[in-house]
Amino acid sequence: MAAFLELRNVSKSYGSGDTMVDVLKNVNLTIEEGEFIAIVGFTGSGKTTLISLIAGLIEPDEGEILLKGKKVNGPGPDRGVVFQNYSLLPWLSVRGNVELAVKQVFPKLNKTELAAHVEKFVGMVNLTPALQKNPTQLSGGMRQRVSVARALAMDPEILLLDEPLSALDALTRGSLQIEIERIWRESKKTIMLITNDVDEGILLADRVIPLTPGPNATLGTEFKIGFERPRNKIAINADPNFKKERNAILAYLDEVGEHRGASKEEEFVLPDIQPIVKPNRFVINR
Ligand SMILES: Nc1ncnc2c1ncn2[C@@H]1O[C@H](COP(=O)(O)OP(=O)(O)OP(=O)(O)O)[C@@H](O)[C@H]1O
Ligand SMILES: [Mg+2]
Repeated sequence: MAAFLELRNVSKSYGSGDTMVDVLKNVNLTIEEGEFIAIVGFTGSGKTTLISLIAGLIEPDEGEILLKGKKVNGPGPDRGVVFQNYSLLPWLSVRGNVELAVKQVFPKLNKTELAAHVEKFVGMVNLTPALQKNPTQLSGGMRQRVSVARALAMDPEILLLDEPLSALDALTRGSLQIEIERIWRESKKTIMLITNDVDEGILLADRVIPLTPGPNATLGTEFKIGFERPRNKIAINADPNFKKERNAILAYLDEVGEHRGASKEEEFVLPDIQPIVKPNRFVINR
């Protein structure tokens, strides 16, 4: 049987000639139905590019992407994407934003069915009280939940989450992590989560797969995460296996970062000198 999602030797560059950027090189990945995968990567390494390729928004230069054995050829309702920015329509309410997406995928629903469908998914992300609110009236975390509801309401086969939580404060991020795990269990969707946070990957995913730093980034050694579900953040944090797993992934990221010399900060030796204090030197002219 064909894998659920398969990437075979996928490579992608942008531009041409002197300005060409080789972003991804020979990316291979197989995801089974119902799996929760986290990709952790360095900033600018090509994570959004990877999501956009699977979403069918851009095409690979080499290699192919197969969903249930069929080649991905442009975007489709079988893949729901939640991007880094919330990308909600500001003039529509929460209900309006979700409804618009649902209508595209399920044009035959009557008014009552449509409303019920929208309400079900807005309820799933705990935003029922905000149904009539506009995005500008919502916090960042709430907007991100609307994006998740919108993607889920289209009933995709796979949810592609591009760092959906990285712009949020730690508390909101923590509660949304728990919500995403619950939604994944309840909806039985396949999820690919991009994150810059190793702990988040360990908390949520069945497998954490690092993306090496670019240019020519590729997926590295994968780490299987075996904690029981439903997962409890406090229990996992206290589990010695968590620390071991985390250290192993961080050490791996450190190692690949060093080899590429891309994201490692240079060490500067500061000269041992004292600054000369010149009073009134920096008086602001009024
Ligand atoms: N349309 C484009 N044209 C040219 N270069 C691009 C384009 N999109 C992305 N890039 C470049 O490709 C590289 C990877 O970009 P991408 O957005 O995929 O990285 P990322 O890992 O998602 O970054 P971030 O951590 O900032 O989200 C970067 O060097 C970026 O500047
Ligand atoms: Mg990105």
